[in-house]
Amino acid sequence: MASTEAPAIRPIGIDDCEGVWPLSIEAGWNQNLADWRFMLAAGRGFGCCDSNGQWQASSLILPLGQRLAWISMVLVARQRRRSGVGTSLLKHCIGEVQSAGAVAGLDATEQGRPIYLPLGFRDLYPIARWHFDAATDVPSLPAGLSVRPATAADLPRLALYDRLHTGMERPALLAHLALRQPVRAWLAEDVAGKLVGYVLGREGRTATSLGPVVADSEAIALAMIARATAAAPGPFIIDVPATHGALRNWLESQGAVSPRGYMRMTLGDSKGLDDPSHLFALAGPELG
Ligand SMILES: CC(C)(COP(=O)(O)OP(=O)(O)OC[C@H]1O[C@@H](n2cnc3c(N)ncnc32)[C@H](O)[C@@H]1OP(=O)(O)O)[C@@H](O)C(=O)NCCC(=O)NCCS
Repeated sequence: MASTEAPAIRPIGIDDCEGVWPLSIEAGWNQNLADWRFMLAAGRGFGCCDSNGQWQASSLILPLGQRLAWISMVLVARQRRRSGVGTSLLKHCIGEVQSAGAVAGLDATEQGRPIYLPLGFRDLYPIARWHFDAATDVPSLPAGLSVRPATAADLPRLALYDRLHTGMERPALLAHLALRQPVRAWLAEDVAGKLVGYVLGREGRTATSLGPVVADSEAIALAMIARATAAAPGPFIIDVPATHGALRNWLESQGAVSPRGYMRMTLGDSKGLDDPSHLFALAGPELG
């Protein structure tokens, strides 16, 4: 693929996992092959190859219900950047999402945001990515609540709770995460057994990613994050909407650092997506 040619966009299949993975490694991202496999099975990938059939660029659409789709994994190999490839993949994904009658959402890096703004995306809220090795302070749950491991039997009500508080329909994603790393899957309940929060996580290429974390309050979220952290060694990453100050203070007190962040953006309106009051950590910028 010469840099002056318009790139031919082709679907990325599940069998292409190992071929596209170097793109996210080159960018220093945390996805492993299990992540790519899940995303390409649950969503649709589009990318560009060079004349040797090597993947030079990727993008992905992950449906989160009938009305919302997440665009992610927008990656262009370093030597092919600034020649319009990223923009053309984005336009392709937007066309696919809109022709299905859905709204597009994404979490933009600093490098991605300049290509999303001219395409009509608007900012919803900023998110900080935190890195930390371990938690020494494990806050307890507010009185009257209890925490226990989440099991496969909990998944249907977990998905309903998640949908109510995030505006995303993602039962397959939640099931995948809960079963992939059960040691990070916890939920909190009140005395009547009502669900008041949950945390999931997954192993990654360089760190364990904690999230999503959805809860009735920041105190519940904090106790569950600490519990999932203590369950097995790190290091950890977690993506927290900037509005959650107590969580930020706790992370800083555990030695966490935040070298970068994201902007949650949307093209169109999707109910609940602009409100992070119950969303304490993303599943990841690539998953919603
Ligand atoms: C972001 C990324 C996908 C852009 O791909 P690309 O093919 O270089 O993008 P384009 O060539 O279509 O850029 C379109 C326009 O966006 C803007 N732009 C792109 N990269 C930019 C940068 N690093 N800084 C400022 N503006 C930038 C420019 O206006 C550019 O037009 P110009 O080159 O004529 O000035 C690529 O830089 C990349 O893979 N980055 C690492 C991974 C990443 O952050 N992905 C985004 C996830 S949200």
